[in-house]
Amino acid sequence: MSAGRRLDTLGDRESGGDRGASGDRGAGGVLESGGALLVGRGLSRRFPQRGTKLFERTRWTSALDDADVDIRDGSAVGIIGESGSGKSTLIRILLGLDAPSSGTVAFDGRPVDARAAARSLHWLRRETGIVFQDPYASLDPRMSVGRIVGEPLWALDVLTAGAERRARVREVLVEVGLEADMANRYPHEFSGGQRQRIALARALVHRPRLLVGDEPLSALDVTVRAQVLELLRDLRAARALTLVMVSHDIGVVQNLCDEVIVMKDGRIVEEGPTEKVLLEPQVAYTRRLLASIPVIDPPRS
Ligand SMILES: Nc1ncnc2c1ncn2[C@@H]1O[C@H](COP(=O)(O)OP(=O)(O)OP(=O)(O)O)[C@@H](O)[C@H]1O
Ligand SMILES: [Mg+2]
Repeated sequence: MSAGRRLDTLGDRESGGDRGASGDRGAGGVLESGGALLVGRGLSRRFPQRGTKLFERTRWTSALDDADVDIRDGSAVGIIGESGSGKSTLIRILLGLDAPSSGTVAFDGRPVDARAAARSLHWLRRETGIVFQDPYASLDPRMSVGRIVGEPLWALDVLTAGAERRARVREVLVEVGLEADMANRYPHEFSGGQRQRIALARALVHRPRLLVGDEPLSALDVTVRAQVLELLRDLRAARALTLVMVSHDIGVVQNLCDEVIVMKDGRIVEEGPTEKVLLEPQVAYTRRLLASIPVIDPPRS
């Protein structure tokens, strides 16, 4: 994210005026990334509203409204915003898990077409990993931890020999602070914090360049959250991972992220370096949001 330029455009955004930033949308939809790993331009997503009656004209919810995003290689970007502001919609679209109603996404300069057959997005799946909020819902209880964690290697055809894949599963379990032999056990044998580490191992097993978390820490208690947060920081440093983290917890953003995107009603209303956005929010909405969220973890030393 090129924060300086984009902060300059905030006044325009808030008043709904013409945005200066649209100049980097190249002719014919060609993306000029400016060195960013992940670039979204003009991203919108509408959903038909539930409860529309028969013969009534469909009403639409605008979950995402003309969002431009630049995620720099190696950066850690936090996404904050009230419930329903479009955070999950944005990351799903950035990862090609959902198609935008309009707009374009490119990863490392390569267009992401979420409407294409699943197989044609395997290249993107190999580059990315995702962890969701609920460590109970996200792991199939019938599968061993080894199968859960290793599944992306088989699905994405990463590493060829079965022995290599099993070795990689054992290795990544250790990387996330578990034990290699846990591969033979089942999810119900683990605590919430351990399950979230299993989910993290699965997201990292194929060595993606980008890890995306949709509130990956919010179901964990304070102590476990601090441990997993520490783990994410270590992984980022050791693996040069690019991180995108949706979080309700400002402490998490403060500890982990060097840039922040603030969302409201499907729009990006403010963004910039974490310190700047948290300490000198430019937009009244961000100030209200920050005031309403408790800070649990101590600030970065
Ligand atoms: N599949 C869908 N069908 C219909 N509406 C949807 C769908 N997904 C999201 N929406 C709507 O889009 C808006 C944005 O939802 P989204 O899940 O992106 O918000 P969020 O910021 O992630 O919220 P939360 O913090 O509660 O997770 C909401 O109004 C939501 O109801
Ligand atoms: Mg969400």
